[in-house]
Amino acid sequence: MNQELFKKNRKKIFDQMIDNSIFVIFSRKNGDDDIFKQSYNVNRNYFYVSGVLEYENIVVLTKINNKTTEMIFINPYDEFKAKWVGAPKSKEEITELSGITDVRYLDKFNSNLLSLLSYCNNLYLDFIPTEIDSNLDEDRLFAKNIKEKMPWINILNGRKLFSVARTIKEPEEIEEMKKAIEITNKGIQNILAHMGSMYEYQLESYFDQAIKYYGATGYAFPTIAASGKNATCLHYMENKDIAKDGDLILFDLGCSLNMYCSDISRTFPVSGKFSPRQKQLYDIVLKGQEVVFNNAKPGVTTKELNQILVKYYEKELKNIGLINKPEDVFKYYYHGVSHHIGLDCHDLCEYDKLKPGSIISNEPGLYIEEENIGIRIEDDILITETGAEWLSPQIIKTTKAIEEFIERNRK
Ligand code: GLY
Ligand code: MN
Ligand code: MN
Repeated sequence: MNQELFKKNRKKIFDQMIDNSIFVIFSRKNGDDDIFKQSYNVNRNYFYVSGVLEYENIVVLTKINNKTTEMIFINPYDEFKAKWVGAPKSKEEITELSGITDVRYLDKFNSNLLSLLSYCNNLYLDFIPTEIDSNLDEDRLFAKNIKEKMPWINILNGRKLFSVARTIKEPEEIEEMKKAIEITNKGIQNILAHMGSMYEYQLESYFDQAIKYYGATGYAFPTIAASGKNATCLHYMENKDIAKDGDLILFDLGCSLNMYCSDISRTFPVSGKFSPRQKQLYDIVLKGQEVVFNNAKPGVTTKELNQILVKYYEKELKNIGLINKPEDVFKYYYHGVSHHIGLDCHDLCEYDKLKPGSIISNEPGLYIEEENIGIRIEDDILITETGAEWLSPQIIKTTKAIEEFIERNRK
């Protein structure tokens, strides 16, 4: 990804900052992650404005008398670190990645910030939402220290600025997510090529192998491989049981590529063939996904999309005799149909009504515990000016295509 994206991202934050304010964005540190350089856990908002994957760095954006400046504080070269986990990026490398030319070392951060704060009273911090005030995170501790030293400073929660900016994706972000989706497709094909009765974690491992092979830089979230009744628990993640012939197995999986996530679900027959009942229910979910897609457009809310799906289910489930009363739908469908996707699988979003450039999931499901059946079909869609576009159309989905693929590729 190139620095032009991160320049655009910073502009979206600057545009929302009030005059005479400073935004301090930490990359954060995560215990042992530091030693193993699991840089893909850096604060997403820090990455969003810098494109840099390193801990302990700090981006500072200022808007003083309506003039903006940007700087980034980094670790200097460290021979010990170089030998253990690789050297921190140099000033030149940081500029190349981020487009920020004012790169300083961290030992100057405190004094530099204090002098900047003498020009303006407003300090934005990127507070993680939490209800546990006693457990102060880095930003809250920092705010507390600043307040003690300079009680007149007005501390503002800047997270909303990121929510607003990140709700709408740039073309480069959409491209990265399409690539993450294609890698996910490769992982799903590898699962299907090995489909059969075995432990859920063994089937999961074919996804792991393929996404690594095709260059994924991480997982979007822990993979769900839930067979039979396990699939009626929405976020079953133990993946420890044997998937049995005759059962369906629900995979909810995704990878990340340069921090951008995919989020896909598919449900497959372990034996390679759907039973007539499984096919009937599967096709109801699949048609539900079309119904949601056909209604996804700017101005609609994800809540409304869910209501449309529920209305559709009320009719369909009554038709097949699964329910008598409309409210019984919630016995078999108990989540929302959409969330935003981006740097986080459940991405930040600010607006209720969808806007062009948002990427959301389309993930109807049906979960019938008494029949040991859980089905979810999830694709990622881009909201366009007039409607929506499938971002994952290449991933196998109809019962016919799934059965044929398994038959053809049986190892
Ligand atoms: N993979 C989690 C979700 O679909 O929300
Ligand atoms: Mn999912
Ligand atoms: Mn999802």
